[in-house]
Order: sequence, then structure tokens, then C-alpha cells
Amino acid sequence: MMAAAAACLLLSGCGGHQSVSAPEYVFRYAENQAADYPTTLGAEHFAQLVFERTGGRIQIVVYPDAELGSEAAVIEQLRFGGIDFARLSLSPLAEVAPSLSVLHLPYLYRDEAHMWQVLDGEIGDSFLCALDAVNIIGLSWYNAGARSFYTTEPVNSPDDLRGLEIRVQESSMMAEMVRLLGAIPVPIVYSDVYSALETGRVDGAENNWPSYESMAHHEVAPYFYLDKHNRVPEMQVISAAAAAKLSAEDMEIIRLCAHESAIFQREEWARRERLSEETCKAQGVIAVQPGEDDLKLLEELCKPLYESYAADHSSVLEQIISLRAEE
Ligand code: GCU
Repeated sequence: MMAAAAACLLLSGCGGHQSVSAPEYVFRYAENQAADYPTTLGAEHFAQLVFERTGGRIQIVVYPDAELGSEAAVIEQLRFGGIDFARLSLSPLAEVAPSLSVLHLPYLYRDEAHMWQVLDGEIGDSFLCALDAVNIIGLSWYNAGARSFYTTEPVNSPDDLRGLEIRVQESSMMAEMVRLLGAIPVPIVYSDVYSALETGRVDGAENNWPSYESMAHHEVAPYFYLDKHNRVPEMQVISAAAAAKLSAEDMEIIRLCAHESAIFQREEWARRERLSEETCKAQGVIAVQPGEDDLKLLEELCKPLYESYAADHSSVLEQIISLRAEE
């Protein structure tokens, strides 16, 4: 919206000579979160930076609330140039570029700082190219915190998860993880999770604090089991078709703005994560912190995924694990 407002200013400033200041390119950016969510704020910031730095030649219009479709649908469209930009969770992206699975294995990162050490370093840079073969180009990494289970009935131990029907992302690894924990995975599109919880189609789901609060899942599944089973980073991407229209200089601007917007997004994320947790607890959510033994058990149960999803990337995996020890 800010980019659009700036465009109007430019237009009126030029006395209505639209051909002089009308954007050369108008791109569509897909986002499945609400307008006030940290990733959407990051996207708007990105659009604004690109608009300013290209003197209004490149306009990026952000469509929040999954207006352009589910993540799986957006990925398909990106591949064929129907959508130009997006911010996507790594789980569905790994369905088209399986090597990405190694970056969101359960209990992989010691903490958030460890994850950034990996993503802001050589490993993260190299994985921004993981989607090249499917015509999607990675631009920057966004934060999505740690995911935990939440349910309509209390869960106080790993055992309580057994037999529950749990909504999962459109992701084979997340489905397998839920199976390994003794529960039943039910893939459902993000925007349909609230009604699936409300109608009892599933007993629970899993996500981070901001998503849980923003989508009001806490209203219908008020038991939050803080097992923090994985961190699923998110990528800002451009379709190869959109990139092909741009000069090397413009692509450089796009990359720089994507990186700057990622710094902005991470600050917004930290703020919202705290706020969402506070809001949920104030509204009656019961958060359970699993003990050390239970966390060890969960980690152990998820271990087979390291073999099935990262066997081809054992050296990257070793590098990531070796960084765990560095504070
Ligand atoms: C997070 C992520 C979304 C994703 C969602 C999900 O909220 O930011 O991009 O769609 O998880 O669980 O599907």
C-alpha cells in the first residue's frame, strides 16, 4: 500500500505524464499471513525499499491472507511465472526441493542463534540456490520461531500425543514426524486449520506462537505443549520468470532489499513472538513445558528422520551439528 501511495505521489509530481513515472514492472507477491503479521510487514518493507531504490520503476504489490492461494499452489505458480514473489515456509518448499529438508529437521538447532549462524553463513547462502532447478530463486531467510503442538484436550507428556489426529503442513517430513510420535498426521491447508480444530476434524496442530495467536487457533485448541520440535525457517523468493525480465543491476537491488527486509522482519518477529505468547496466556491458554526426559524421548523418536531426509546431505548435517557447540 505504501508503495502504491508513493507511486501516486510520483505520478502527480510529474503533472500526470504517466509514461514518465508509471512503474516499468508491477510484480505480485504472495503471503499467506495476515496484513499485520511479521512476515507481511517484512514483505511490505521489501516492496517499499525496492520501489525507492529503483526510483519507482519496480512496484511489488503484496497480497496477504493467502489471497493468491495456498503455499503449495503458490509454489506451482512461481515455477511457471504466474506469481512473481513469495514468502514461503521451508516445509512445503522441501516437497519440490527435497535437499531443503536438512534445514528443518526436528531438534536440529540448539536455539535461534544457532539457526542464524547456519542460515546467515555459507550453508544458508548455498541453500538459497536449492530451488534453481524448479525455477525459483531464493533471496533471503525470514524467521518463523519454533513449532510446538497444541491441542483441544490437555497434552502433558509424549504419551498423550499417541493416537491423536494432528494437522500437518503439506509436507511429507512433517507427516512422518507426527507418525513417529505415535499420532496421525492430517494434511490441511493453513487457512482451514481453525475450522478443522473447531469442528473436531483434528485433535490438534502445531505451529509457532504468532501463527497460533494470529489465526486464533488458541481459541479452539487452548493447550500448548512447548516441545519446540522444530524450527522451520522461511524463504523470500522470486520466480525465475520474473528474474529473467530484470537487469543484473535490478536483481542486485532486489537481493539487497530482500536482505534488509529480513533484518527488519526478524525484529518484528521477536516483538510479535513475545506479544503473542502474552496474549494467548492472558486469554487462558495453558502452556506446558515438557521436562528434560520427555524432550529427550521426543528427540529420540524423531531421529529416524535424519536418516530418511538427510542421508544425501550428511556433510551439511555434520557441519550444522558441529556448530551446535559454538555459543
Ligand atoms: C507458519 C508459516 C506459514 C505456514 C504455516 C503452516 O505459520 O509462516 O507459511 O503456512 O506455518 O503451518 O501451514
